[in-house]
Amino acid sequence: MTEGIGSARAPANIALVKYWGKRDERLNLPEAGSLSVTLEGLEAHTTVRFGPSHPRDQLILDGHALPEVGMRRAVRILDRVREVAGVPHYALVQSTNSFPTAAGLASSAAGMAALALAASRAAGWDPSAEEASVLARLGSGSACRSIHGGFVEWIAGSREDGVDSHAVGVASPEHWPLEATVVLISEGEKPVSSTRGMAETAASSPYHAAWIGAVRHDLPVARAAVLARDFDALSAVAEGSCLAMHATMMAARPALCYWKPGTLQTLDAVARLRAEGRRMFFTIDAGPNVKVFAPPGDPDGALGALEALLPDKKTLRTRTGPGGSCVDETVSD
Ligand code: PMV
Repeated sequence: MTEGIGSARAPANIALVKYWGKRDERLNLPEAGSLSVTLEGLEAHTTVRFGPSHPRDQLILDGHALPEVGMRRAVRILDRVREVAGVPHYALVQSTNSFPTAAGLASSAAGMAALALAASRAAGWDPSAEEASVLARLGSGSACRSIHGGFVEWIAGSREDGVDSHAVGVASPEHWPLEATVVLISEGEKPVSSTRGMAETAASSPYHAAWIGAVRHDLPVARAAVLARDFDALSAVAEGSCLAMHATMMAARPALCYWKPGTLQTLDAVARLRAEGRRMFFTIDAGPNVKVFAPPGDPDGALGALEALLPDKKTLRTRTGPGGSCVDETVSD
């Protein structure tokens, strides 16, 4: 092969039963499974070009060279693709995000999933969904879930080489098109990466073992709630998982807290509206932003009422959406 080009789009996803703890840091193998919902419209669009004219691997995200940490993650994916497909060349990767990067909006999940799909296509390799999910996981654990649409479960697996640690679809977007709004508290870079945060929590939080036990308990409850379209059951398990994850990291020594005053202000607004009978639930990843979900069609007008209570906050509307796929349009500068 002399040259190869491939492009893909992949969405962000938000975990409802969270991943926070690795059993292998190099391969991003989790201590327990997790369950997420894929988000429509918040996506990365990536083009990979392998060829002899590239003196090294280079990744340009929204016009800027990717910093070293992100680059190291991307190279794990590129190296694996080169190994499987026998490609002898470096790659030029160009990517754009349709939403703020590193704002706790799972931009790395979208980016690494899009990279996995685009790089395989560029190398002339057509991976199964399982293989694509394993490949995306090498860049960022949660990225393995962005290959699929709708509701997605990451099976933790038990093998040391990680080939059984990948995501599977639980239900399609059409099964249960939940509505959501993302309340942006801060668009800045997060102070502690999730990899470092997970390692510090596992090493020093007295609640870490209990947290992993809670995940194993919550997973089948959340899966059943999704399959039965039981919004109240999903609300309880998703908020419980989110708060347990944050409680575990707040109890680490030194403490790790991603929340800002606006985070609590948003939780308070959700509680007030729910007390009025409007159905909604929140979740928060490794950042201060809050994602709030309502049932299909948002019959109580919950999300609009929430946005009206938070007039100084930027928000982004989204809903349950499709997974990643290869596309023909390329990204170039
Ligand atoms: O995949 P990472 O390394 O970005 O970690 C994601 C961690 C959380 O977003 C907090 C939880 C999750 O399951 O996505």
